[in-house]
Amino acid sequence: MKKFVLVMLFIAMAMSMIFAGGSKDAKKTVLNKDKPLVFFNRQPSDPVTGSIDMAAMNFNANTYYVGFDAAGGGAVQGKLITDFLAKADPNKIDRNGDGIIGYVLCIGDVGHNDSKARTEGIRKALGTWNGSTDPTVKKEGSVTVGGKKFKVVELEGKAMTGTDGSTWNANAATEAMGGWATKFDKAIDLVVSNNDGMAMGCLQASNYPAGVPIFGYDANADAVEAIGAGKLFGTVSQNVDAQAAGTLQVIRNLLDGLTGSDVYTKGFSVPDQYGNKITPEVQYKADQRGLFALNGPVDPSNWKSYTEGNRDAGIKQTTAAKKKVILTIYNSADNFLSSSYVPALKYYAPLMGIDLTIVQGDGQSEASCLDKFTNLGNFDAYAINMVKTNSAADYTDKLKY
Ligand code: BGC
Ligand code: CA
Repeated sequence: MKKFVLVMLFIAMAMSMIFAGGSKDAKKTVLNKDKPLVFFNRQPSDPVTGSIDMAAMNFNANTYYVGFDAAGGGAVQGKLITDFLAKADPNKIDRNGDGIIGYVLCIGDVGHNDSKARTEGIRKALGTWNGSTDPTVKKEGSVTVGGKKFKVVELEGKAMTGTDGSTWNANAATEAMGGWATKFDKAIDLVVSNNDGMAMGCLQASNYPAGVPIFGYDANADAVEAIGAGKLFGTVSQNVDAQAAGTLQVIRNLLDGLTGSDVYTKGFSVPDQYGNKITPEVQYKADQRGLFALNGPVDPSNWKSYTEGNRDAGIKQTTAAKKKVILTIYNSADNFLSSSYVPALKYYAPLMGIDLTIVQGDGQSEASCLDKFTNLGNFDAYAINMVKTNSAADYTDKLKY
């Protein structure tokens, strides 16, 4: 009997060694160039024309983008503002009583699709859109405030670039707002920002005109709280949980060997093999090889449902095999990525069996990210958030062998 147990034990050990060796060999045979590659939040694209960098998106059959519906979001932000104005008291909003709604605009990054879409959405809603997202190209618009028609003038739009060259810079917004408050004084009736980080930055200006309505984008925790406190008037949720979980889900699907439509349906529109499914709708656009979360307005009527800790119950602990993924973040100081996206990634990754290594750049030099995008053979998949939207090739070049 003892002998039998020993023989069985020996067989079990031998089997497990063969198995371990087998999986190691399988790992070795996957070249970096064939591994899953997911771009997220900064879509590989031309900073001037906005056209998608399809060479990057077709790097291999396992390349995808995960983001959100930028154009739809711009429209949501525009409507949030005009809905607010429609119900506002015209005598209070038009601070200098000149019949004009004057506003200032914080632009994140003139070369970033999301930033462009928001500038467009805001200007279209206020009638100041003149066919270009250029900070200086705009026209006089019109809007209804409390049943009364007003002209709209964009007093100034400015790309918020920090002294170090980083974009979407909140400190630059504080400084710009300080300057605007002095320069335009009571002509400012409204402040609009391409993101919450810059909106919160504006509110930091010591001479911020108290009570002037201000709108952001992202639904970061501090911004949602500021809505509750009556400081911020509205923001837009780009559904960060669906995006962070979506980035990881695509990677999980690819690592599990899924192909074709399974890659963007499993765990999205139908449960994956572990029973996980992201609750909000995420749309797939084949022409961009991209998955896009939807946006929703956040204002004093619904801010509470956006307070932190509302993680997606559709994603539960799985038994998925542990895989190693390296993920880059263009700027460790970006408010949205650091306060919303990264915490969500850190929550969902262990549930999906993903061992995540996050490396972060300084927001202005691609090298600050690329220099940490190393030891690539040690990882099973890659997730990339570039400093410049046209830098995808710098990353794929490192994966070419
Ligand atoms: C966010 C911004 C963020 C940017 C970074 C955008 O989608 O709304 O807040 O700064 O991504 O790439
Ligand atoms: Ca006015």
